[in-house]
Amino acid sequence: MAVHSIGVIGAGTMGAGIALVCARKGHRVHLLDTNQDVLNKAQSYLLEVLSKDVQKGRISKQQKEQTYRLVVPVQDMALLKESDIVIEAVPERLELKKSIFASLTEVCRSDSLLLTNTSSLSITEIAGGLTHAERILGFHFFNPAPVMPLVEVVRGKQSSEQNVTRAYQFARDLGKVPVVVADTPGFIVNRVARPYYNEALRILGDGIAEVDQIDRIMTLAGGFKMGPFELQDMIGIDINFATTESVYTNFFHEGRFKPSRIQQRMVQAGKLGRKTGEGFYDYSK
Ligand SMILES: NC(=O)c1ccc[n+]([C@@H]2O[C@H](COP(=O)([O-])OP(=O)(O)OC[C@H]3O[C@@H](n4cnc5c(N)ncnc54)[C@H](O)[C@@H]3O)[C@@H](O)[C@H]2O)c1
Repeated sequence: MAVHSIGVIGAGTMGAGIALVCARKGHRVHLLDTNQDVLNKAQSYLLEVLSKDVQKGRISKQQKEQTYRLVVPVQDMALLKESDIVIEAVPERLELKKSIFASLTEVCRSDSLLLTNTSSLSITEIAGGLTHAERILGFHFFNPAPVMPLVEVVRGKQSSEQNVTRAYQFARDLGKVPVVVADTPGFIVNRVARPYYNEALRILGDGIAEVDQIDRIMTLAGGFKMGPFELQDMIGIDINFATTESVYTNFFHEGRFKPSRIQQRMVQAGKLGRKTGEGFYDYSK
């Protein structure tokens, strides 16, 4: 089925990047957020990235203008009613995502594909009780969405085979590398990644090494592109904490996934990483 129009809900770290990925492939995108400041920031981000593309000779000025204009910031969900595909990227809270999908099933056509970028929540639970739940799937991009190739296509209990194929093909058309995964807590990548963050936080808590030492060891000696603390600051410590909490809860409190109090305190203090100017590192200067 041809894709003409896409809706992206949530214009934060992930939503803005996802909108760019779609616009670069020529799709018209309605980018929805309840916060006008976030929409303004998302537009500045798009301009900045596209201007760099021009400077580097990847696109012409005209292409930059065209791509920029394809992303239309909106605040009213009714404007998403003609979307062939909607990708939700609001914070990692089950009730919030459930309520958005409940509204989407009323607003959108029954053959639209409704995708969630959740990092860890159950697709089956998000879709539970909704009409045409066969069109609700996980579609998990990685941060930064325009750079990272992988997309986990998550098959919920009620997702239809036809829609799994549609989502898979859509990811391919976006230039991504899709992998179809089962609907289990944290899917594959975030399940594997939990010990990376949790052990680093334990080492910090036990006073064995400092934040920058752990990061440097993992990058210089371990060959990781980013250390566990730099990565948490980039992801958003609130988002990372919510993901760990959700994986822990859905694995029935298995100790190996237990969230860290250090991380919890950072969230309580509003030190969420790059997006607030301070996390494990200071970004204010
Ligand atoms: N940050 C990451 O590295 C990362 C990576 C992969 C997946 N994810 C997942 O993507 C989702 C979004 O994460 P993020 O980091 O972009 O979060 P974020 O906090 O940067 O952005 C979320 C946005 O959603 C908006 N929002 C809140 N309620 C809304 C509503 N009812 N309608 C419309 N917009 C609303 C907020 O204003 C905010 O701008 C989460 O499910 C997260 O787990 C995040």
